[in-house]
Amino acid sequence: MLALLAAATAPENLSTFSPASPAAEWTRELFVLVAAITGGILLLVEGILFYALIRCRRRTGPADAEPPQVYGSKPIEIAWTLAPLIVVFVLVLLVGRVLWEVRPDPVAASAGVQPLHVTVIGHQWWWEYRYDSYDGRDLGGIVTANELHIPVSPPNGVQRPVYLNLQSADVCHSFWIPRLGGKTDLLPGRANTMWLQANEPGLYLGQCAEYCGTQHANMLLRVVVESPEDFEKYLAAEAKPAADPTDKVALANKEAFRSQSCVNCHTVRDKQDTRANGTFGPDLTHLMARKTIAAGMIPNTPENLKKWVFSPESVKPGCLMAGFDLGEKDMKAVIDYLTTLK
Ligand code: CUA
Repeated sequence: MLALLAAATAPENLSTFSPASPAAEWTRELFVLVAAITGGILLLVEGILFYALIRCRRRTGPADAEPPQVYGSKPIEIAWTLAPLIVVFVLVLLVGRVLWEVRPDPVAASAGVQPLHVTVIGHQWWWEYRYDSYDGRDLGGIVTANELHIPVSPPNGVQRPVYLNLQSADVCHSFWIPRLGGKTDLLPGRANTMWLQANEPGLYLGQCAEYCGTQHANMLLRVVVESPEDFEKYLAAEAKPAADPTDKVALANKEAFRSQSCVNCHTVRDKQDTRANGTFGPDLTHLMARKTIAAGMIPNTPENLKKWVFSPESVKPGCLMAGFDLGEKDMKAVIDYLTTLK
């Protein structure tokens, strides 16, 4: 009942009742069907209970009389053994059918359409995306965080599935975009797979669905579904290295960032300067292409960025980024540099 209530009152963008992909449509149908069957059983059982309570609420006959002794009824015994068996069997068939339809390796993509392959790595508490291949092209090297872009799969029969390879860098997480599909866990030392296919362009929100520590609730998911043309533009922009600063101030800002310990955990792909090559934190090469920071928590504005970089504990207590005070001048230089990473 609680699950029903939660699902019915979820914001439109997180509701399993407005599916935007075949897998989510299957899930919704199963949800409604199972809720109807089990709801019917609940009403029947409670109905009989209330009938008995009302019908037998008063003792008939003398107070010390023995009630009628019943020694069971074969037909009733058989009925209440068989009925649950049949119900459970029907539920197993229904679930089995949906599990088959959403299995990790469904029908291949339409002829001439090559799928997108992305490796998703769960971290405490953010998402890493590594674009592996698309349309038969190797995309190795495109790494981003927290905002996954995928091409739309128009409902005109063209199948353009997105295959996800799910891994974890630390503890168990779970990838869940309610409108695009069911939950799949990301487990340490194991790769799980799932696929997505979105019918409509737009922003789809999600949430880590496996408790993974203090900031589990703020490990938010954002999937941007766009036209194949826009997706190509996105890939082309993400594949580029960071733009080279042109003037003296911009160069000094870049130096201010690269001489800090930030570079031990973050990568900024740069042809000339490879100091920023850490892989423990999100890749920052195109940081400003992302609408949010701290895994979907706050809008990516220069003010928020400053707060996030220099006092992360005030934004996301427990997060693994260390805040430090550089002094106003250097903090401004670092933020000015970061905001050039478009
Ligand atoms: Cu990651 Cu919960």
